[in-house]
This record gives sequence, structure tokens and C-alpha cells, in this order.
Amino acid sequence: MLPTTEKTCNMSGKILFVDDEPDLESLICQKFRKKIRTGEYQVFFAHNGVEALSTLREQPDIDIILTDINMPVMDGMALLAELNELVTLVKTVVISAYGDLGNIRKAMNGGAFDFLIKPINFQDLEITINKTLCHVQQLKDNERSRNEREEKLRQSEAREREKAIQLELALQNLQRTQSQLIQTEKMSSLGQLISGIAHEINNPVNFIYGNLTYVTDYTHQLLSLITLYQQHDAHKYPEIEALIEQIELEFIKEDMPKMLSSMKLGAERIRQIVLTLRNFSRLDEAEMKPVNIHEGIDSSLVILQSQLKAKPNSSSIQVIKEYGDLPQIECYACQLNQVFMNLLSNGIYALNHYDKKGSPEPIKIEPRTITIRTSMLNRDWVRISFKDNGPGMTSDVETRLFNPFFTTKPVGDGTGLGLSISYQIVVEKHGGDLKCFSQPDQGAEFVIEIPITQNNRIEMKAT
Ligand SMILES: Nc1ncnc2c1ncn2[C@@H]1O[C@H](COP(=O)(O)OP(=O)(O)O)[C@@H](O)[C@H]1O
Ligand SMILES: [Mg+2]
Repeated sequence: MLPTTEKTCNMSGKILFVDDEPDLESLICQKFRKKIRTGEYQVFFAHNGVEALSTLREQPDIDIILTDINMPVMDGMALLAELNELVTLVKTVVISAYGDLGNIRKAMNGGAFDFLIKPINFQDLEITINKTLCHVQQLKDNERSRNEREEKLRQSEAREREKAIQLELALQNLQRTQSQLIQTEKMSSLGQLISGIAHEINNPVNFIYGNLTYVTDYTHQLLSLITLYQQHDAHKYPEIEALIEQIELEFIKEDMPKMLSSMKLGAERIRQIVLTLRNFSRLDEAEMKPVNIHEGIDSSLVILQSQLKAKPNSSSIQVIKEYGDLPQIECYACQLNQVFMNLLSNGIYALNHYDKKGSPEPIKIEPRTITIRTSMLNRDWVRISFKDNGPGMTSDVETRLFNPFFTTKPVGDGTGLGLSISYQIVVEKHGGDLKCFSQPDQGAEFVIEIPITQNNRIEMKAT
């Protein structure tokens, strides 16, 4: 009886007959000539197991192997064992004499799909072939659709992974942009404020400074007039004599020029501070320009001056400058000043908050210092280092230092943006490098390395 699934099966396939019987080939070709002619059956013949395996290597998509059991060189049982080792969908049908039932049973236990009894009944053979073909075809279909499903799964997994990466990147980008916006906003309002104040102070200081020269001249003239007058007429008038005594004219003559020159010095200082403040904000300079880096560091120090001074229960922070001989650096001065500010204010904060875990009192280190060193790294690059002798940091903090929003400070004290912005400014905007060297209780050193001109950006800094 034909299996019901046969109706849906396309019963064509490749069939390998393995038998040492010489007449079998012509018999099969004759019996199945119609199917062979129409291409429904493609038949192959081998005379023992070894030949069968070699045919299978040439035709790896053979669907069925019909094999005799007793053969020379390699018998059917050995062939079956070899086939079990191969990863293939081929099904084996053993054919043996009625008296060899023991072997047939062994073959079935050893993985054969079906068996036939010799002498071969060709109708039976055809049914068995068709049934087996149908089974193999179903296996192949299953395998194909499993492969397709797996491929689809792989593709969708790859798509999801790609999406996750994109999302991660977008998130990082967003965080960076957000931090940039906040810091830019903060710095630009600070810059505007500073430049506004500088402008407001500049005008009145100029009245004072500009007029002081005249006041000095007039005073000299008036004093020499009084002296002249004294020499000629003053002793005739006791009232004038008394007033001269009373106001201590001699002292005034001596003190007045000193006062004027110290007023001039003061006005000069105010003008200098105003200049520094304008230099710091440098709002007018949006493009890269060659500047003196030391001026930028100095103006940041002026702005932070009050934080460096001694407080009721702490000494002042000493700033040690070891400036090298640097050329002008082509940079966005305002942005680099911002980096100096960030590094310096982090150093100051660290020195002001030196508590060691477990110790009840803040540790006092004397003297508290920030050392600023500048030098040429090579012909085309400079190195600027800010080093404090504060608490330093753990390696865990050090690895996260430059992440946007990473801070160890309490709310209100830190935003966690200073270093991430500084990193962007140095690395992305100037093609330089920003590194931190620190260990707990060993202070921290931040090193900026930047090219002198932007033409040197891509050149190796180690050359
Ligand atoms: N000089 C320093 N010494 C010790 N720790 C520092 C120093 N500079 C930065 N850090 C650590 O790096 C963190 C991130 O700094 P930063 O990005 O400037 O953000 P914030 O100053 O707002 O915390 C700080 O919270 C601090 O833990
Ligand atoms: Mg900071």
C-alpha cells in the first residue's frame, strides 16, 4: 500500500544501487527505463561499499542507497557504519536474501531506513523507493525551511544588534551635545558677564588714568608756585605762616607726588586686570589665532585668585609656575582658557577637600601647591601640565574622569562636565591630547599636549 503522503510528494531523485551481482544494472535499467528516460529516476551503480562511498563523494545529493549486504571489499554493514558517520540526509535500504534475516535486523538497528528481500520484487522495489524518496524529500524540505528560519533569525539579530549600536551611539552623542550645550551656555554667559564688567570698569578707569598725568603736572606746577611765593613774600603775612604750619606744607610737598604715583600705580593695576578679564573672555575671537598660552593661564589665575588666597582655617594655595620658552600657539584662545580654568578649579577643589576615607579630620598638607609647567614636546608640539599635591584619585575614578556628567562631588559642587568638555576642546577641536596621571594620596597631574599650528595636527607628535 502506498503511504498517504505519497500524493503530495514529487517522486524523483537520485538512487544508488550497490551490489556485486553483475546483471543487476541491466535489469534495473530495463525495469525502470521509462522513469530513467523521463529523468524521474537518476540511477547510479557500485559493486561494493568502497565504490559506493566514492560515488557518493561525486554525487553528494544522492537520495537513496539500496545496498546488498554480502559483498567483497566492503560489505553492506560496513558501508552503513560509514554512512552513519557522514552528515547527510541519504537513506539506506538494505537488500538481502530471505535466509539472512539476522543481518537485516542488525542493519535496521544500525540505522537502515528499510529492507527488501531477494529475489527482488520490482513492484515492491518501486514502492519502497518512492516511499523513501518521499521521506528524504520531506527531510530536505524541513532542513531547507529550518535553514531559512535560521538565516532570517541571524539577519534579524544582526539588524537588532546594529540598531542597538546605533542607539548607543546616538545616546553618547546626545549626552555629549547636552554637556557641550550646558557648558557652552555657562561659559558664554560667564564670558559675557566678564566682558561686560570689564567694559564698564574700563571707561571710568580711563577717566582716572588719563587725568592723573595732568593732575600730576598741575600739582607740580602749583607746588612750585607756592615754593616761589614762600621764598618771596610769605614771611610778611603771619596768617599765611600760621596756615603753612597748620597744614604741614612741607609734608604735603613731599607726600603729594608719592600719593599721585601710587594712585597711578593703582589705576595701572585696574587697567591690567580689565585687560586680563577681556583676554579671558575673548568673545570677539571665534576663529583660531596664534596666542601666548601663558597669558591665558595667567588670566585664569587672576579670575581664580580669591580661591587661592588663605582662608580662616587654611593656608593659601601656592601656584608654582615653570613656564618654558614657547612660541605662540594657534588655537581657539577662549576655549583653551576654559580648559585651564577647569583644570585649575578642579585642582583647587581637590586641595580644599583633602579627606582620606576613615580619617575624621581633613588632612592638612603643607604647603598646598599647584605646579604649572609648560615646555616644548618636540619641534611642533607643546606640553602644558597642571599638577596638584591633593588627594589624587582611585583608578576607578581615573577611568571615568572624562565621561560627561561623571562627578564625585556633592550636588551643587560639581556638574561632571569640566573634564569631558576639556577633553573635547583639546582632542577634537585642537587635535591634541589630554591625559591624567594620578594615584590615591599622590596628587593629580593633567597634561595637555597640542600642536603649535593646526598644520601639525596630523603629524605624529612623537617625531
Ligand atoms: N585634580 C583632581 N584631583 C582629584 N580628583 C579630580 C581632579 N580633577 C578631577 N577630579 C575628579 O574628576 C571628576 C570629574 O571632574 P569634572 O569633569 O571637572 O567634573 P566636576 O568638577 O563637576 O566634578 C571630579 O568629580 C573628581 O572626582
Ligand atoms: Mg570640574
